[in-house]
Amino acid sequence: MYIVDRSVRFIRGALMSYGPSFLKRSLWDQEYSTSKWNFNDNTTSDIVYGYLEKWAKKGAIMDLGCGSGNTSNEIAESAYGQYLGVDISEVALAKARKRTQENGRTAKNQFVQGELLGFSPPQKFDVILFRESMYHVPLNKVKSVLEHYADYLKPEGVFIVRMSKTQDGKEKWRPTAMFRVIEKEFDVVEEGECSVGFGGTVMVFRPKSPHPIKAS
Ligand SMILES: C[S@@+](CC[C@H](N)C(=O)[O-])C[C@H]1O[C@@H](n2cnc3c(N)ncnc32)[C@H](O)[C@@H]1O
Repeated sequence: MYIVDRSVRFIRGALMSYGPSFLKRSLWDQEYSTSKWNFNDNTTSDIVYGYLEKWAKKGAIMDLGCGSGNTSNEIAESAYGQYLGVDISEVALAKARKRTQENGRTAKNQFVQGELLGFSPPQKFDVILFRESMYHVPLNKVKSVLEHYADYLKPEGVFIVRMSKTQDGKEKWRPTAMFRVIEKEFDVVEEGECSVGFGGTVMVFRPKSPHPIKAS
């Protein structure tokens, strides 16, 4: 029974990351229809906020795989001017919009359903964030997906990626390999680790210069 359970969870997890978009959307909608992700209702102590607030410079943030609205409602309101959250799950986005309304941030926070492997936003950003969502990019696409989004960074803009590299004290190979790709292919400007609370690693980076920036 244990082996069957583990296999079902493994296949479901693989489909949530690598399946066709309609299936990923349906599986993520199911996830957010349960209480499984309710712990995200309070992540105010997370390591990511210090970096976001520093690099947003009161400007525009795009949050890819934004989930149910923690980042857009927990970041200091004075730290940003505009926020666009993108997620594959409409159920997550409905929660994010409700939280935003309750929090009086509708003038700043916008949400749109989209596929993070190739979303095309309508503007450029000071920060493009992947918070616990880079896991859903296949390892061999990390570079090309980031190159796609590099065209939507302002000239001084940065990517911020937050992931947990360890679980139960053991190093997880995929996030570690993803951070290696980033270190090799991009200019890392800042990095931080936190082992308490939610734990995790944050990497701040930008395209290697000179990056050909497309006119918008
Ligand atoms: C682990 S949750 C992280 C949520 C939030 N960023 C946070 O840190 O609390 C991963 C999020 O990525 C979204 N996601 C997964 N695959 C996606 C894809 N292909 N396109 C867009 N969103 C995706 C899921 O719906 C989910 O909200």
